[in-house]
Formats: sequence, structure tokens, C-alpha cells
Amino acid sequence: MMQPVQVGESVSRKVRRVVRNALIDMRFGPPLAVVYLRDRAQSNCDYRELEHAFSGRLDEADVLVDVGCGAGRVINHWLRSGVGSHIYGLEIDERMGAITKFRLRRRQDVSIVIGDAISNLPADGTVFFLFNPFDESTTRRFATAVLELAHAADRCVRVVYLNCKHLAVFEDHPEFEIEMVPHGPGAPATLQALAVITVGDRQGAKLAEL
Ligand SMILES: C[S@@+](CC[C@H](N)C(=O)[O-])C[C@H]1O[C@@H](n2cnc3c(N)ncnc32)[C@H](O)[C@@H]1O
Repeated sequence: MMQPVQVGESVSRKVRRVVRNALIDMRFGPPLAVVYLRDRAQSNCDYRELEHAFSGRLDEADVLVDVGCGAGRVINHWLRSGVGSHIYGLEIDERMGAITKFRLRRRQDVSIVIGDAISNLPADGTVFFLFNPFDESTTRRFATAVLELAHAADRCVRVVYLNCKHLAVFEDHPEFEIEMVPHGPGAPATLQALAVITVGDRQGAKLAEL
């Protein structure tokens, strides 16, 4: 990612953040900033954001899906956290998808699927992560696909939505329960808005007919 100085972030903090991200990346391959050098319009998450987003939310049984996985930093984070029974990365950009697939080729617990995420949502997914990959109409298609998937599987599905610009799409549908996650005391001012969206009851109640 081309990592701009975020609003409210000093240069020294930015340097520390970029170095920390690179050091964590290197447990799983080269620093991911290298992958983004050729496409500066693309971006990826910061590990600090991911720690905030997922802390205490995932368990070993979850099937984790990064919707628009880019170079795969979110997948790195899940691998280092030891959560999830399987991890999917869905990426429409063929070059980016191929690089990520090659980097993670030895991981039996990771599948990278190249193509449109909405046409390829894994039926066994339980947690879907979005770092604002879509415009409003695509977010609407995604929300419909998640509802269909939850109903077909007859179980709870969660969407963890960072920088949730099109949250209104989910608010429009009564089956989605939305929790805005507070940043907590002492959190850096640079953290982005985070919503956890649930369809279906986590306790296992059956879903209504669509
Ligand atoms: C902002 S990046 C997020 C990367 C990664 N999830 C992260 O947080 O570090 C969004 C990614 O979504 C991908 N994308 C956009 N539309 C997509 C679609 N319809 N299907 C799959 N990937 C898509 C883009 O190519 C880009 O790599």
C-alpha cells in the first residue's frame, strides 16, 4: 500500500506503523508495500486496524473470507492469529490475485479465488471482511448474496466492514443487525469506522424465509 500520512498522525508515528507492518508482512513473504508499487490506486489495511477489528471476535471454527483480498495482509493477520478453520481470499484483479496465490501457495488452509467476489462467495463462509472494496450498487449485490448464503446454509453469517462507507445498504434491510464498534479509550485517532453486521442468530436460531 502506498501509505499516506493519515489525518492526525505524526511522521514518526507513520514511520513506526509502516515498519511494524513490513516486519509482520515478512513473516509470510516480502513486505506487501512492494506489491502495491505498480498500482498506487490500491491500498491495504494496517495490522493495527485488523487487531482492533478482529480481537475477540473469531474462533477456530470460523471460515474466514477476505472479500477483495488484494495482496493478502488480512490473510496474514488471520494466519498469525491462529484463527479460522479455513481462509479464503477473493480478488478480482488477476495480477494481484496471482501474486497473492503464489505467495500463499504452500498454505493448505488458504484458498485464493481470482474473479468477482460476489459470484464466488464460499458457501461455507462464516465471517466476511470488507475494507470498503465496493461502490454502493456492488455493496447492495453483496448484501443480497450474503442474505441468500445465510438462508441457504441456515446459519449465522457475519460481515466485518471497515471504513463502512455504504453501511446504509445494510441498514435498509431489517434482517441485518448492525453493531458499530467503538474505538475505545486511548485508540489512535486514525482508526476507521468499523461495523459488525450479523444475519441470523449467533445462538443458532433458524432464519426466516427470504
Ligand atoms: C481496498 S483493497 C483491500 C485489500 C485487503 N482486503 C486489505 O484490507 O488489506 C480492495 C480490493 O478489493 C478488490 N475488489 C474490488 N472489487 C472486487 C470484486 N468485485 N471482487 C473481488 N475483488 C474486488 C480490489 O481489486 C482490491 O484489491
